Amino acid sequence: MSFDLVLFGGTGDLTWRKLMPALFQAFRHGKLPAGGRILAIARDERSDAEYREYIRQRFGDVDAAKQPPSPEEFDRFAALLHYQRMDLSQPEHYAKLRAWVEQRGADSVVFFLATSPHLFTQICTQLGAAGLNGDTVRVVLEKPLGHDLASAQEINRAVRAVFREDQALRIDHYLGKPSVQNLSALRFGNALFEPLWRRESIANIQITLAESIGVGTRGDFYDRTGALRDMVQNHALQLLTMIAMEPPSSTDADANRDEKLKVLRSLKPFTEVTVAQDIVRGQYRAGNCAGQPVPGYVDEVRVPAGSTTETFVALRTEVQNWRWAGVPFYIRTGKRLAQHDAHIVVNFRPVPHAIFSGASRANKLVINLQPSDGLELHLLAAKGAGQRELLTPVSLDLDFDKAFATERVGAYERLLLDAIAGRLHLFVRSDEQEQAWRWVEPVLHHWARDGSAPRPYAAGSWGPPAASALVARDGVMWAEEE
Ligand code: BG6
Repeated sequence: MSFDLVLFGGTGDLTWRKLMPALFQAFRHGKLPAGGRILAIARDERSDAEYREYIRQRFGDVDAAKQPPSPEEFDRFAALLHYQRMDLSQPEHYAKLRAWVEQRGADSVVFFLATSPHLFTQICTQLGAAGLNGDTVRVVLEKPLGHDLASAQEINRAVRAVFREDQALRIDHYLGKPSVQNLSALRFGNALFEPLWRRESIANIQITLAESIGVGTRGDFYDRTGALRDMVQNHALQLLTMIAMEPPSSTDADANRDEKLKVLRSLKPFTEVTVAQDIVRGQYRAGNCAGQPVPGYVDEVRVPAGSTTETFVALRTEVQNWRWAGVPFYIRTGKRLAQHDAHIVVNFRPVPHAIFSGASRANKLVINLQPSDGLELHLLAAKGAGQRELLTPVSLDLDFDKAFATERVGAYERLLLDAIAGRLHLFVRSDEQEQAWRWVEPVLHHWARDGSAPRPYAAGSWGPPAASALVARDGVMWAEEE
């Protein structure tokens, strides 16, 4: 299958940090369909050769080239790369792009908008005006997709005026993570868990997306965004839908997305009262991460003094349907936390009548997303002779890297290959995305109105103590507190 992948924002951070390394990995793994071209678009004048050299230098900085390519291997990859200067407001530049695309007539043409989202509307409109929206074309939109419901709807309207819904692919790179794929396989490829996957057997579910990094050089972007918009509205809610959704009738993309949308619609809405009770926001102060002193959020580059942007959120919600009524779902995410650790914990209910002494822990299933991916099933077992009645916790661990000897496919690699092949099920539909905004918006409004500041927490900790109090109210602890 021939393809043309056009990267708007071809010299931007996302392109050289994530997309190019992912494309290189796909190339190295022999997964990139032969007969493809990758065209980077940016503002400045460059030749193809200069762009290839630019990427070669950047590869030195990113970990995706864990095993750096040999010069010969890089040259073979770089032969796919092309460059075109564009002024995104100029129709004649899109005409030139059209000529480039038509000259090949590839089976699949993907426009990846790795630009600032304020350009999405303009780019889509111009692509449409240039006739670059035919049946073989797909457009990929990278987050943040809007700042709130109204701005997301505005982008979606502009996209819809040019592309059909099945041509517009909204990326949430968490959906491309191998463990998230395995969550789906675990639930819908095995009969084992399904009878237990409900309120009768599950006590609560915790989603933790903890990062040890701070905001780095993205202070200005982050300060306008905050953790709720940056991580909860998209990644955490998408994970929640994957956990809570009903089994779809097939692997069809819309069958899947219909079920996810139902979950988003069933989330308990926030009210003035519940925002105050069920959501904790925090902001890091100076502290120690991995033994190194690090500055507080307001002392980071390009963060305004006195900022009240949250770098941490912990919340409690419920999925209001028959399967999940009354089961708390906790979400927690933050920067500069104790560890880089993303996982989901499914806490099962304890046995109804305990006959053994010793540990009385209930079973739990842990889905690890970061830093490594795998599954752990925590059980109780008898320790050995002479201690018959004493139970001790053990865990059945499945490390996907070890289980599958083959190279693991990274999130962006997977999603780029899916975009080229037109596989839609790992992309977010506009109605899901808008519903997620609808759910977080009362919180954003409440915070904007109430004028209070986020709670402080020391960099290198697990967030403000109020996050522990939030779960303790239900008699629950976060995984690291047990
Ligand atoms: C991005 C956020 O969407 O996800 C970043 O904008 C965050 O702030 C990143 O660091 C986390 O992704 P991952 O895959 O490193 O967990």
